[in-house]
Amino acid sequence: MSYPDMRPRRLRRNAAMRRLVEETRVAPAELVLPMFVKEGLTEPRPVASLPGVVQHSRDSLRKAAVEAVQAGIGGIMLFGVPATRDETGSGGIDPDGILNVAIRDVVAEIGDSTVVMSDLCLDEFTSHGHCGLLTPGGEVDNDATLAAYAEMAVAQAAAGVGVVGPSGMMDGQVGVVRRALDAAGYQDVAILAYAAKYASAFYGPFRDAVESALEGDRRSYQQSPANLRESLREVELDVAEGADMVMVKPALPYLDVVAAVRDRVDVPVAAYQVSGEYAMVEAAAANGWLDRDRVMLETLTSIRRAGAQVILTYWAVEAARLLRAGY
Ligand code: PBG
Repeated sequence: MSYPDMRPRRLRRNAAMRRLVEETRVAPAELVLPMFVKEGLTEPRPVASLPGVVQHSRDSLRKAAVEAVQAGIGGIMLFGVPATRDETGSGGIDPDGILNVAIRDVVAEIGDSTVVMSDLCLDEFTSHGHCGLLTPGGEVDNDATLAAYAEMAVAQAAAGVGVVGPSGMMDGQVGVVRRALDAAGYQDVAILAYAAKYASAFYGPFRDAVESALEGDRRSYQQSPANLRESLREVELDVAEGADMVMVKPALPYLDVVAAVRDRVDVPVAAYQVSGEYAMVEAAAANGWLDRDRVMLETLTSIRRAGAQVILTYWAVEAARLLRAGY
């Protein structure tokens, strides 16, 4: 026998062989599109730091939801941008608040042909931009916030949402939301828990998209990028409190966390490829420095390979189209 005896390249010889032995495939049904809807808009408005992403009007949101269904993606995640904000984020609970209205609109338009999810957090609705209610001293008050999340969850369920996504990183948020939903007769509404959510600088463009003027930072409730074991504890607590799915966020800089969480729990694991991850690639591609489509699919494949079976990404519809075209 000639040297080398072992030739892994045999399995890479041509496209047919490579396709046969591919370990990871990304399917459109695993992708979830985050969408923004702004109160009072008559036309969709581009978000400068997220090329290709818009703040929708109620009308354009309905149309985009239909397109998402046609692209075959697994779900959409709705975020509301209210016209006015207050200290307690009351617009998130108000049945006529923009997010609850948008849920109703979308469910009326597409029913359950794709999974309709909603962000369950106060930051889009509070004047100070924090995910919770503040004490007179300006600290985020965990337990007072839980009561608000419970009301918000019931309002979203009443609007017809299929999955709520508590994303505020308050202790006990999953349990309180589960109990509130059950008590109000919404046992069938599922919880996608933002279980391991880091205090990340990659959320910058999102804050433009929701026009949040955050005072201070979120480090007293979101996790330090330095910590992995802390995520495992957060995830275990959320599963014990009734999370149907758990999420790691951001995605690409935290693939070790995705993999560790996947090993630890049996519920579906999601990962959120956040605004800054998207913006980095778009900016480089706009300069001709990266092949955008290839990088897009490479990042999604990597997140999938690390163990996420649901991926939230601003590229969801586009990636689904590329995948269907056999890219
Ligand atoms: C909180 C929330 C945020 C994101 C999703 N949900 C912002 C934050 O925690 O500061 C960020 C998503 C992204 O950057 O794409 N409502």
